[in-house]
Amino acid sequence: MTPRAVAIVGASGAVGQDFLAVLAARQFPLRSLRLLASPRSAGQRLSFRGESLPIEALGPDSFAGIDVALFSAGSAVSREHAPRAVRAGAVVVDNSSAFRLLPEVPLVVPEVNPAAIAAHRGIVANPNCSTILLVLALWPLHRAAGLRAVVVSTYQAASGAGQQAMRELREGTAAALRGERLPPRVLPQTLAFNLFPQVDVFQPDGYTREEDKLQFETRKILGLPDLPVDATCVRVPVERCHSESVAVQLGRPLPVAAARDLLAGAPGLELVDDPAQQRYPMPLPMAGRDPVAVGRIRAGRVFAPGLTFWLAGDQLRKGAALNAVQIAELL
Ligand SMILES: NC(=O)c1ccc[n+]([C@@H]2O[C@H](COP(=O)([O-])OP(=O)(O)OC[C@H]3O[C@@H](n4cnc5c(N)ncnc54)[C@H](OP(=O)(O)O)[C@@H]3O)[C@@H](O)[C@H]2O)c1
Repeated sequence: MTPRAVAIVGASGAVGQDFLAVLAARQFPLRSLRLLASPRSAGQRLSFRGESLPIEALGPDSFAGIDVALFSAGSAVSREHAPRAVRAGAVVVDNSSAFRLLPEVPLVVPEVNPAAIAAHRGIVANPNCSTILLVLALWPLHRAAGLRAVVVSTYQAASGAGQQAMRELREGTAAALRGERLPPRVLPQTLAFNLFPQVDVFQPDGYTREEDKLQFETRKILGLPDLPVDATCVRVPVERCHSESVAVQLGRPLPVAAARDLLAGAPGLELVDDPAQQRYPMPLPMAGRDPVAVGRIRAGRVFAPGLTFWLAGDQLRKGAALNAVQIAELL
């Protein structure tokens, strides 16, 4: 690959820091790397491949000479600055939800729909983190046996809500161990020694926006516009890595042994499915790792034919930074 001039917007954030780790680990060919964030972090330095790089405040001229801009600073920042980056000649890979459902914007998981990227007009959207983990497992099942419906419950880590939420979980846990209770700050409820069925805001029909993302983004990525997807998203007191309980209805029977073989060989997945040895996917061992672990695969008891399974993966890695860097590599 030709070395590229890359900018990271939101470099000081949870996803931003993983961008640095992933670019370094994959030896992404860089001509230059510009780190951008809000004025709050301007002047701070981050280390990359043994070098100390300054963080600059994001502004209208930040994208001059940039080939690829990796955005992870929230939807408002993307809406304002991504079009500027495109006008300056960069291709944007955007981690926010700002553009994901626009028909002209490809929504890409490279293991699933890499061809979609070709139609981009300057912006490629990185899907929601829970959705990326889910579709990696759904895609091989769909190709083998035709997906008919999906019911998914997520167990989402604090880091999915950013660095301040991670801090809130740590400080809240320490306070609880002292017998105190910290009021929630960025999260809607106390997370330490608790969980709550709310990720993002509620919609008029009682689902949350995160649950809507799982439905609409899964449909777009898989190219199944009518696929029923019923999601319940739960925030759990885990620092890093989301887990998901998934039940799928299939068009044709798929024996459990065949599903295991299929998922074991699918790109981006790792089979961890030996219940007799108490081996199944968990968040802690997946932290900082690239693959999404799948296990507890069994014949469904509600959907026939169907399968029920469990997965866990690092939502800052494959759910955000890694997927975006893979898109940049494809570009
Ligand atoms: N966390 C995840 O697991 C995850 C997964 C997939 C997608 N995403 C998406 O990625 C984005 C960032 O999430 P995060 O978890 O990394 O959040 P975060 O830890 O809160 O970091 C937010 C980043 O955005 C920067 N920022 C905020 N306002 C800005 C502004 N006005 N101008 C320039 N930079 C600004 C912050 O800079 P300062 O440090 O200077 O404030 C920081 O670098 C969000 O759109 C989120 O939905 C997150």
